[in-house]
Amino acid sequence: MSRYGATPGGSVTVPALAEMKKRGERIVMVTAYDFPSARLADAAGVDVVLVGDSAAMTVLGHGSTVPATMEEMVMLTAAAARGAERPLVVADMPFGSFQISDEDALRNAVRFVKEAGADAVKLEGAGPTLSRVAAIVGAGIPVMGHVGLTPQSAGMLGGFRAQGRTAAKARELLEDALALEAAGCFSVVLEAVPAPVAARVTEALAAPTIGIGSGRDCDGQVLVYHDLLGLYEGRAARFVKRYADVAAEIRGALERFAAEVRSGAFPQDEHTYAIADEELAAFEGGLAGTAVPEGRVHGPPGQQ
Ligand code: KIV
Repeated sequence: MSRYGATPGGSVTVPALAEMKKRGERIVMVTAYDFPSARLADAAGVDVVLVGDSAAMTVLGHGSTVPATMEEMVMLTAAAARGAERPLVVADMPFGSFQISDEDALRNAVRFVKEAGADAVKLEGAGPTLSRVAAIVGAGIPVMGHVGLTPQSAGMLGGFRAQGRTAAKARELLEDALALEAAGCFSVVLEAVPAPVAARVTEALAAPTIGIGSGRDCDGQVLVYHDLLGLYEGRAARFVKRYADVAAEIRGALERFAAEVRSGAFPQDEHTYAIADEELAAFEGGLAGTAVPEGRVHGPPGQQ
């Protein structure tokens, strides 16, 4: 085992994550939706890359995760999987891809593995999701569960709000997590669950829990790439910690680029290519007498 809980060959595996829980080593998961972000997550030693359906909001500009389609998620997962060599790659099954039947869920899970190169898939919820999990795991595809705030069903939950905040709801959440483990989930995400409730669920499960807004006693933590890097301007959720302000960096760089293009400060000679004097002379000599179509003459403004 490497210090990151990977196999000697290098890649993080499902059993390696279970071993990490046993050893009390915290699991690091981050979302990524493309090749460069997954590559950076890999280089930073992240254990699990989740291609979350949060992409619908962070990358595609929708107001919720619901519009994410299979085609979009397969394309994003394939890009991220090409960048993530060592981390386990988990593809988030979008709304509508697993709700209809076990057969449909399995067909879509197979697409993530065969077409996109995912190592595992993630499904939200319990109840009807349990038989989907069993069908997918039965076909040999590892499944991560997700309880608490499940954004695909935020409408049913009364919005994007913390879950498990009454004794009865906390008990229900614990039972759902246990049922997901019994159905075969190798790990369960706990989103926006009070820390003491998440701690009890974590204790009760042999499978590692990955928390987001659920306190420090989960076996691992996940944050959304754009949230933790500050890749957008504006407020983030309460449970987000911003480790960088990349939006300000990007905006500053774009403003400097625009200013230099407009002033003529960019590009300089070092940003273009040379041509030998004799070649240029021959080129220009060859142009003599050539009719250049109107509007296609290139030269400094005012001399065209
Ligand atoms: O879609 C997503 O990014 C997620 C994480 C927040 C767990 O489901």
